[in-house]
Amino acid sequence: MADLTLLGMSGSLRAGSFNRKLLAEAVRRFAPATYLEGDLRLPLYDGDLEEREGLPESVRRLTEAVALADAVVIASPEYNKGVTGVMKNALDWISRAEGFPLGDKPTAVISANAGRTGGETGQYMLRACLVPLRPAVLEYPMVMVAGAGDHFDAGDRLVTESYATSLDTLMARLRDAAER
Ligand SMILES: Cc1cc2nc3c(=O)[nH]c(=O)nc-3n(C[C@H](O)[C@H](O)[C@H](O)COP(=O)(O)O)c2cc1C
Repeated sequence: MADLTLLGMSGSLRAGSFNRKLLAEAVRRFAPATYLEGDLRLPLYDGDLEEREGLPESVRRLTEAVALADAVVIASPEYNKGVTGVMKNALDWISRAEGFPLGDKPTAVISANAGRTGGETGQYMLRACLVPLRPAVLEYPMVMVAGAGDHFDAGDRLVTESYATSLDTLMARLRDAAER
């Protein structure tokens, strides 16, 4: 079995985030792998800052982790039907690094939201925003956990079978793509 490195990124920063729980479930399914969690607490993209100092240290750490990874999993809620500012800001910074660090990386995109669609609109927008960064995004199955509070137990495990099964399939496909 190949020794793989998986990078995870969450579009929600809060400690109790359902997307961070979903990300942890995705990572468990991908295992075994070296896991790197991207820290998206980055300064807001500012062209003047970039011109003055180049990529900030926090951005360099993130882009180096992206470049090291054999596969990437992104979990993000939608905010007001769109991609979160945290995630979009991270993508904008990553796009400023040399040589397309996300280029051709097998990438899974998943979402969890309180609403009834599980962040579907935001997830499609996120997929569109990823296109210029050239990752190899898996098209299916789409994992969008709706009414997120109802699907994790007290130990933060994803307990609803339909979502768990879709996530199993998606992460198995991600592993296959990374091993190829
Ligand atoms: C600024 C903001 C906008 C939101 N917009 C949506 C939305 O468009 N659709 C939705 O289902 N839930 C929306 N919510 C509720 C989120 O689904 C809920 O806060 C969810 O827990 C966020 O993901 P997290 O648990 O990973 O932080 C919004 C929440 C915030 C704070």
